[in-house]
Amino acid sequence: MSPDAKDQVLAQASAPAKVILIGEHAVVYGRPAIALPLPQLHARAEVLPGAGSLVIESRYPGADGLRETRVDLAEEGPPQALAVAARAALRHAGRTERTPWRLRVESEIPTGRGLGSSAAVAVALVRALGLAAEPDEAWDPQTVAELALEAERFVHGQASGIDPAVSAYQRPIHFQEGRARPLAVGADTHFLVADSGQHKGTAEMVAGLRARQAERPLTHGAWFDKVGRLAEDAVRALAEGSFRWLGQLMDSNHLLLQAMELSTPALDNLVAGARGAGARGAKLTGSGGGGAVIALVDTDRQADVAQALREAGAVSVLQLCIPATG
Ligand code: PMV
Repeated sequence: MSPDAKDQVLAQASAPAKVILIGEHAVVYGRPAIALPLPQLHARAEVLPGAGSLVIESRYPGADGLRETRVDLAEEGPPQALAVAARAALRHAGRTERTPWRLRVESEIPTGRGLGSSAAVAVALVRALGLAAEPDEAWDPQTVAELALEAERFVHGQASGIDPAVSAYQRPIHFQEGRARPLAVGADTHFLVADSGQHKGTAEMVAGLRARQAERPLTHGAWFDKVGRLAEDAVRALAEGSFRWLGQLMDSNHLLLQAMELSTPALDNLVAGARGAGARGAKLTGSGGGGAVIALVDTDRQADVAQALREAGAVSVLQLCIPATG
C-alpha cells in the first residue's frame, strides 16, 4: 500500500458530550429523564486502511493526564470498552474482527465529570465504523445508541442508556426504558455548566444508590417517582419556554439528589453560588459525587453567574444554548 493510501480516511464521525437536565439515577429505575447535548466538547473517530485485523488507537484525557491505548481485536488481551463497542458495530455490519481497518479515536471531553465522555467516544466509534461498512446509509441514532450502550454497560455496570442516546441524537431528548424521543423547545434556553474539578466514578455512585435503595425501597421508590414527575413537567416547561418553572424543577431535582446522598459540599456550593448570583435554577448533573452542575441562567445574568461559579470553586464554566425548535 502506498503511504498516501494508508492515510486515506475511509470514514469519520464525531459525537458530543452531554448533560442531564432532569432525572439522573431515577432513569436507571425506569423513570423518564431529559438530557441535552453539549456541543462545545466532542469525541471523534476515523477509520483508515489497516492490515489483517481491526486495530483501535485512542487518545483521550483521563483522571491522570492523556491516556493513549492501542488494541488489536484479533489479539487476546484485557477487556476494553472501545473493543466492546467496535465488536458490537462489526457484528451489526456483518463483519468480523479480521476487517483490515485502523480506527483512530480522540476525545476532548474530560472523563469522570458527568459529561458523558465514555458514551461520546463509543458513539463516534460506532458511527464511524457504520459509515466505513455502509457508506451509503448512515445508521439511525437509535441503532447507534444501542450498540454504544454495550460499551457503556461494560464501563458503568448498570447503565440506563441515556448518555449514548443523547450523544447519538445530538438533540435534547426525553428518555425512558431505552427509548429516546427528541424534544420541542419553545424558546432559546441558556445554561451554564460548571465543572467542580472533582473526579467521580459513575459505577460507584450507581452501585452506592442501589445498596441504599435495597435497604429503603419504599422511600427510594417515592423519590424516583417524584423525579419522574419533575422530568415530565420539564418537558412542558421546555416546550413552553417557561424559564421560571424550569428553574424550580431543577432546584427540586437537586433537593431529591441531595436526599439520595449523591451531592457533595463542593457541588452544593456551586449550586448555591449560581442561585445567589441570579440563576433561575441549578442542580448537579450526572452521577454526582463530584463532576459538574448545570444552571439555568438568563443571558443578562450569565457573566455574574459564571463569576460566582468560579468563586465557588468551578475549574471551568461552559455556556450551553439550546435553540428553540422550529
Ligand atoms: O455518565 P454520568 O456520570 O453523567 O451518569 C449517567 C447518569 C446516571 O443516571 C447516573 C447513570 C445512567 O446510566 O443513567
